[in-house]
Amino acid sequence: MKSIVILISGRGSNMEAIVRACASEVWPARIAAVISNRPGAAGLDFAARHGIATLVLDHKGFASREAFDAELQRVIDGFSPDLLVLAGFMRILTPSFTAHYAERMLNIHPSLLPAFTGLHTHARALEMGCKFVGATVHFVTADLDHGAIVAQAVVPVIAGDDESSLSARVLKLEHRMYPRAVRWFVEGKLAIVDGVVRQSDGEAQAFS
Ligand code: GRF
Repeated sequence: MKSIVILISGRGSNMEAIVRACASEVWPARIAAVISNRPGAAGLDFAARHGIATLVLDHKGFASREAFDAELQRVIDGFSPDLLVLAGFMRILTPSFTAHYAERMLNIHPSLLPAFTGLHTHARALEMGCKFVGATVHFVTADLDHGAIVAQAVVPVIAGDDESSLSARVLKLEHRMYPRAVRWFVEGKLAIVDGVVRQSDGEAQAFS
């Protein structure tokens, strides 16, 4: 049985999709804890209602990024996770933290990486006249929103779209894609070869 720790900062809808899939599909895994850096993150209530340990570690109480990440690592490691899942966790992580969880930390980013790292991805894609937007699940490295790509979801841009309509359509796909990617990891079905992630059953890593 694999142990998963999920980090959130807010709504937590991707965390919710993962928790539900883990239970309904009976993964060989359990969600050991959901940790937020923001007190009052909406997702904490859902996790607590589902019997999952929840913790808040407010970054505002720390003098430096290094001090926060060191304490976060200590708290996470108390749950001995096999996998750390970032689900809307709005923090830039220190190299020491990312090295500690190398190849066992996933993130979901709302763009077709390597395009549009950082914030406001859908608005920037619209400004650039992109005809497709999407989301990417990737392993986390010290380089923000980079790291080997596990899965991508693509959504066409249609007339009248704005940031909120796009993010709503992409989010629906995120909720299908992220649980699948996490399940692949816990079932040992992901391999990184020369920086490229392969799914060993040959399942499609593209979602639409
Ligand atoms: C998602 O759009 C995800 O791609 C991005 O932050 C958002 C988190 O939403 N990293 P939620 O907290 O999972 O609802």
